[in-house]
Amino acid sequence: MSAESHTKVDTRGHATVVVVDFGAQYAQLIARRIRESQVYSMVVRSSISAAEIAAIGPRAIVLSGGPASVHAEGAVLLDPAIYELGIPILGICYGSQLIAQQLGGVVSRGGRGEYGRTELRLNQDSELVGLNSGDTTSVWMSHFDAVQQLPPGFVGTASTADAPYAVIENPERKVWGVQFHPEVVHTPCGKHVLDTFLHEFAGIGRDWTMSSIIDEQVANVRAQVGEARAICGLSGGVDSAVAAALVHRAIGNRLTCVYVDTGLMRKGESEQVVETFRRHMGMELIHVAAGDRFLASLRGVTEPEAKRKTIGELFVRIFEEHTGGMVDAEFLVQGTLYPDIIESGGHDGKAAVIKSHHNVGGLPDDMKLQLVEPLRDLFKDEVRALGSELGLPDEIVWRQPFPGPGLGVRIIGEVTSERVRLLQDADAIVREEIDRAGLTREIWQAFAVLADIRSVGVMGDERTYGHPIIVRAVTSEDAMTADWARLPYELLERISARVINEVPGINRVVYDVTSKPPGTIEWE
Ligand code: XMP
Repeated sequence: MSAESHTKVDTRGHATVVVVDFGAQYAQLIARRIRESQVYSMVVRSSISAAEIAAIGPRAIVLSGGPASVHAEGAVLLDPAIYELGIPILGICYGSQLIAQQLGGVVSRGGRGEYGRTELRLNQDSELVGLNSGDTTSVWMSHFDAVQQLPPGFVGTASTADAPYAVIENPERKVWGVQFHPEVVHTPCGKHVLDTFLHEFAGIGRDWTMSSIIDEQVANVRAQVGEARAICGLSGGVDSAVAAALVHRAIGNRLTCVYVDTGLMRKGESEQVVETFRRHMGMELIHVAAGDRFLASLRGVTEPEAKRKTIGELFVRIFEEHTGGMVDAEFLVQGTLYPDIIESGGHDGKAAVIKSHHNVGGLPDDMKLQLVEPLRDLFKDEVRALGSELGLPDEIVWRQPFPGPGLGVRIIGEVTSERVRLLQDADAIVREEIDRAGLTREIWQAFAVLADIRSVGVMGDERTYGHPIIVRAVTSEDAMTADWARLPYELLERISARVINEVPGINRVVYDVTSKPPGTIEWE
């Protein structure tokens, strides 16, 4: 992951916190937590200079954790002049060690390290941690090196077994550091640490709210689109739905949505998209029911990549067929999110690469449309909150991620209408039972996969020879890694019984207990 490049910084007039990204996955999570505290945050690369920081003009700086050691050869350091800007700084994990090292303290090389839940003991009262001398609390640690000697002017207010200076503070210089991770849920005092740093020490108010985001984005879209028309390809997913709702609020019926229905959606999903957007939101929606064309083109195709390619190409062709005539449309709405931009190192003013996640195969290169990306500054959880605020129903706002090629990559082997129906029915039961158990929001994705094998069973007095359904349910933060969900046995039992009883042709249910890596979330 590379952070934003710094040309063309736009903080939209909000008090801004920059999160300096020292690698690993920490920076994004920290940035999200800061936003949850209603402060606008942006992730920047670690090579940022003091002059570049000054140009952004942040009200505070957070140095993220990172996988490296400050002693490692080529260790990434912070431009030392940044410490002289007088902007409040909070270092987290590696960031805290960096502060100690760069401001004249000593960081040990390779102690024993601490990983996971660790007891933190306060040696002095700390407003930052919100605890008094002698108190203990549990914090989440992930470090090898530790600060061994304080830099001049700092006090060490708390320690753990292997980190004598787990919290370092220099209020005069407005620099603080914590060895633990305040951004993770396993650190109960974490929110207090971030809030105190942001609101008390740095004095930043709370102006990053959903209604402020809507007002601004509506104004931005109006300014960008003017009197022209825009097109939005709906995928059935959260991002394009919220982007469409926002742009619709800005320009009304000058937005036309196109929903290419591949017939490979989950049960009832296409009807719901049409119902929500056309009836409920009153949008102009072209619903292209193209299931038969997709099935025809998938005939005999069994190899996963070939399926993706077939579906992607046909999707683009159909999208073009239905938008080619809209000669007066000048803009294309995309549900690009902030993490897409950070990951692709973009934000340089060029049109963002259309990620294949949003549209089955990406849209045509030669489309002469300018992009409207009203969600470019937002994280997924913010997009969901925005969707609710804009009046979208929970079923859409909380919809789990779904691959562009849809059920096409969840049917192992050839895709036929019969198999699509089998899988839709079984998948609906899996999701319904997980929903009934109240687990939908805890689980990243839960679905059924139809295997291309058959097994023998017995139902009543009859021998059966049917297909198995594989239940896949995973927990994840970002789909990069995932763990199989520890679903209760009783829930698995209900799913199994219902699928076998209610879906003729399925005679066995198995549960996938593979994490990612080594597995992927999808089966193809
Ligand atoms: P994997 O299977 O690679 O999936 O662990 C990671 C996440 O991406 C989704 N996914 C896709 N999304 N087009 C998409 O829009 C695709 O071709 C595609 N393949 C996988 C998957 O559902 C999971 O959330």
